[in-house]
Amino acid sequence: MLFLINFAHFFEQCDFMGDKKLFIETYGCQMNFSDSEIVASILKNDGFEIIDNKDDATVILINTCSIRDHAEQRIRRRLSELKSLKKRNPDLQIGLIGCMAERMKEEVFEKHPEVDIVAGPDSYRSLPELIAQAAMGQAAANTILSEEETYAEIQPVRLHSNGISAFISIMRGCQNFCSYCVVPYTRGKERSRSPQTIVNEAKELFEKGYYEVTLLGQNVNSYQWEEAGKIVRFPDLITMVGDIHPDLRVRFTTSHPKDLSDDLIRAIAGHENICNAIHLAVQSGNDRILHKMNRKYTRAYYLERVAAIRKQIPDCGISTDIIVGFCSETEDEFQDTLSLVREVGFDSAFMFKYSERPNTMAQRQFEDDVPEEEKLRRLDLLVQLQQEMSLESNRRDIGKIVRVLIEGTSKKNKKMLMGRDGRNKVVVFQTVDTSLKGYVDVTINDCTSATLIGTLL
Ligand code: SAH
Ligand code: SF4
Ligand code: F3S
Repeated sequence: MLFLINFAHFFEQCDFMGDKKLFIETYGCQMNFSDSEIVASILKNDGFEIIDNKDDATVILINTCSIRDHAEQRIRRRLSELKSLKKRNPDLQIGLIGCMAERMKEEVFEKHPEVDIVAGPDSYRSLPELIAQAAMGQAAANTILSEEETYAEIQPVRLHSNGISAFISIMRGCQNFCSYCVVPYTRGKERSRSPQTIVNEAKELFEKGYYEVTLLGQNVNSYQWEEAGKIVRFPDLITMVGDIHPDLRVRFTTSHPKDLSDDLIRAIAGHENICNAIHLAVQSGNDRILHKMNRKYTRAYYLERVAAIRKQIPDCGISTDIIVGFCSETEDEFQDTLSLVREVGFDSAFMFKYSERPNTMAQRQFEDDVPEEEKLRRLDLLVQLQQEMSLESNRRDIGKIVRVLIEGTSKKNKKMLMGRDGRNKVVVFQTVDTSLKGYVDVTINDCTSATLIGTLL
């Protein structure tokens, strides 16, 4: 009898041990979202079921971002919320992974005792061991950065995809060391992934019914792979992916202006299915600030690159990132940013207040001396101006016919479908058949600053 009871108990334990349920929550950039798909794949192979409800999870991983202080604060608040789950279920493991884990390393355990596992962006292959280690009550951390890791052969489990569009990570890390930026410290040295594994992944996605892939890297223009004496650069790679099928749209992000080559512009111009959309972060319109940011280009150089794009691809969508209130930025220097925004007429922009990041060059060498309310005032002015620019850009499209890849129904109006054109502009249009899929041609007849509104041809 005793034996039987123990036997049953043993099975109960096995059952518990076999119950591996993973919930992943992701913050930050597309690279992080792409990384979560790699993490899901690694842990699925280790027997985990990937679930959507954190209440049933045995392991919760938070894939984090450190880019601005605000991003980290959000994650801190999230961790406090998770404490209560842990009270209810003491066996629950909480892991902090990604850029904030890399930045804080073991300090995470001191500041957030609810965290059991810490893993940086290059140590995801060790997650099964870290989880096992944490289950035995040991603090489990791996924040070693690698010069080779690209997770090249790992087939991502598509967590963030609508089945239409997917991310493909083509390189990792960044060594541009813009003075304000934490990424070179959280993601380590730049390294590229083998072109064949990238092309294979894109082919497989196309065969599964996907219509669009976005090639991802912190600076895709410096992609480089050397094999048997041959060098594959980004224009070569994007051509290889573009050649897979004319119905597979190819996007890429993000491009550093210093490396935006004429070859790349030609590759985009030469392929109907390589989208006419370039995200080209400018950060500032003033040369002194650009130099202080260590961006390695001038305003004139940036404008020349924009002109080169527009010469070869007249209808190219150009978007950007801008920081206001960087250390010692004067009113006149801020005005240079506004004038550049007017001069280029960006289709869209991500705009930020400078946020000092620990251990960056700017934090070590310069004073964060633009007062918070002044940063806010500059940001407001910039956002207003960009909205006018986006509206103007969208108004110029009224009367045009654009090719849209349908992504689903519009959030605001379920009778309308929503998709994007090649330039990455959001298009909504009325249709009786909301089950339509794939590409459609839409005539634009109205717009807001964020959306083109049209009718199906
Ligand atoms: N590798 C990309 C940028 C990734 S971070 C590129 O260079 O294009 C995305 C954007 O966040 C940056 O372009 C920059 O505008 C902004 N950013 C980065 N660090 C910042 C900081 N410390 N404060 C405010 N914004 C920042
Ligand atoms: Fe940061 Fe500059 Fe690298 Fe972009 S290029 S990730 S802004 S250091
Ligand atoms: Fe954030 Fe890391 Fe991306 S800091 S923006 S998640 S590379």
